[in-house]
Amino acid sequence: DGIVVLVSGRGSNLQALIDAVRDGRLPAGIRAVISNEPGAPALARARTAGIAVHVISHRDFPAREQFDRALIQRIDACQPRLVVLAGFMRILGPNFIDHYAGRLINIHPSLLPAFPGLDTHARALQSGAKFHGASVHFVTHEVDGGPVIVQAAVPVLPGDTPDILAERVLAEEHRIYPLAIGWFLAGRLAVAGGRVRLDGEER
Ligand code: GRF
Repeated sequence: DGIVVLVSGRGSNLQALIDAVRDGRLPAGIRAVISNEPGAPALARARTAGIAVHVISHRDFPAREQFDRALIQRIDACQPRLVVLAGFMRILGPNFIDHYAGRLINIHPSLLPAFPGLDTHARALQSGAKFHGASVHFVTHEVDGGPVIVQAAVPVLPGDTPDILAERVLAEEHRIYPLAIGWFLAGRLAVAGGRVRLDGEER
């Protein structure tokens, strides 16, 4: 049931996982929280919850490869079944991704494949989309391009700003991330040929 959560910032998704574990909605053990940013508010959330925290700053390493290797060592020491990216803002290299193939997931604030990358809420507004949302996906070599596990859609409403829209999406993120992690830990998810199955049914 062990998971390790990687963060860089605010940590509201981490908080949603902490709350879900505490309330018994997510039967998981958060073995550790690792941040690449020493000042990430997420770290305080973890400490308050009594979770082990580690800072591995990418600035302490000459290149991504060495940073990734330090992360792997730290994560593997925790022996998690699943590695969870929750607002982790560094791109991970191919060695890291291959090392955790099939057990590394991310949450992205858009309805993928629409709007991979940054500034998704502003881009959704600019595009004139009537719906926006969030996606949980397995991580593959293509950034924000891995097989999608679950999505939640929200309406784009008149008067929305990127911040207002982000808040509406975030509430859905906090709902679907514990859900997806629970499915994984219950053995209900499988990936084959780049497609996700839940209870044997293609998503
Ligand atoms: C979330 O919108 C998440 O989808 C994206 O980064 C943001 C992180 O927010 N990957 P938080 O740190 O979980 O509050």
